[in-house]
Amino acid sequence: MVNVTYSGNYADVMTDDKKQKLKQIHDGLYEKTGAGSDFLGWLDWPSGLSQSFLNNIKSTAEAIRGQADVLIVIGIGGSYLGAKAVIEALQPYFDKNPDFEVLFAGHQVSGAYLKELMAYVDDREVALNVISKSGTTTEPALAFRFLQKYMKERYGNEAAERIYVTTDEEKGALLTLAKEKGYKRFVVPDDVGGRYSVFTAVGLLPIAAAGFNVEGLVEGARAAENELKAFDAEDNAAIRYAAIRHDLYEQGYTNEVLATFEPKLSFVQEWWKQLFGESEGKEHKGILPLSVVYTTDLHSLGQYIQDGKRDLMESFLIVDEADEDLEVFEAENNADQLNYLSGLSLHDFNLVAYKGVSEAHLSGGVPQIGIHVSKLDEYNLGYLLYFYMLSCAYSAYLLDINPFNQPGVEDYKTAIFKLLKKPGY
Ligand code: PA5
Repeated sequence: MVNVTYSGNYADVMTDDKKQKLKQIHDGLYEKTGAGSDFLGWLDWPSGLSQSFLNNIKSTAEAIRGQADVLIVIGIGGSYLGAKAVIEALQPYFDKNPDFEVLFAGHQVSGAYLKELMAYVDDREVALNVISKSGTTTEPALAFRFLQKYMKERYGNEAAERIYVTTDEEKGALLTLAKEKGYKRFVVPDDVGGRYSVFTAVGLLPIAAAGFNVEGLVEGARAAENELKAFDAEDNAAIRYAAIRHDLYEQGYTNEVLATFEPKLSFVQEWWKQLFGESEGKEHKGILPLSVVYTTDLHSLGQYIQDGKRDLMESFLIVDEADEDLEVFEAENNADQLNYLSGLSLHDFNLVAYKGVSEAHLSGGVPQIGIHVSKLDEYNLGYLLYFYMLSCAYSAYLLDINPFNQPGVEDYKTAIFKLLKKPGY
């Protein structure tokens, strides 16, 4: 489960008006009558997932691990961040000889990156998973053009058995290509947008291929779906988080800094930024999502957060228990003068640091929200990601914004295509 704490008085947040508005949002969500409700497929997706779907994901992941040492996942935005977030959160920091690696491409445009990637995998067996709901996004399409050629040159006709495509069921250039070449296909459901797609094949196939327990992830998401469904203005964590940040926004705190002491969560932060930024930032409204990793950033942005312009709220994503830890030991000569920490684990140091930083930033005028998960495993990540998606929908609706479209991302594309003289622009 996820526990949400607040430095202010929650009774001041949850006024009768706010409760009424949230109840309307709740009913609109579950009766699928709110703005953008064609894209609510993610809401009951975890509970609707069939065992045969999961078995297909798991057996395909096994087949990929059987034929390759490296899976290159090609995608951008919601078509890569969910998988990247979960894999980074669960994999070890260092692995000298990984038996299998998941790498990413098409999430930027860089000739150097692609060249070095192809050189890096050249002495290993490779498979590709190309992910694009629209099937027409330029960055992944460009990366796939190069990597498809690379696969053809390395594997000849056998390349087709090493290429997996996740896209729309009925339309898009990628679908046409996949059908023509006979690539194995997975579907991005019509009613699930990219940033809400981590529990579909978009996220699950790369995560399973990386060797993680997708059933545990889905189980966590199902628990969240079930526990956060009821309207409870006090105890529903998704409603609490949305209500608090909205209340702060109305008081002029228009930026939210998501802070964590767990470096493995830095891509969960990236996923969160995309989820909230792309869902809420419309019609000249929305909270700007920012992120910091502590204690690293206490030596950088910490100064600004403590003392800079006062339009920030800070939410801490805290993992209560550590899997791996070290205890500070007593040193004979105490030359570094750290013996006062003897017996304290490094995780406990971070929990104390959380308390200290939170008090200091609060005294500097930065309101504090705490998001607590018990540990970093598949189940808790599944719960956390679902919690954030649901809370994001409440948050956007509190601003009277459709959470599920992204009209703003078209503008830059049109500008680039015009400059590149793309036919039709
Ligand atoms: O959340 C979204 O909808 C976007 O970030 C998309 O995931 C991103 O633009 C990639 O789109 P596509 O999957 O169509 O290539």
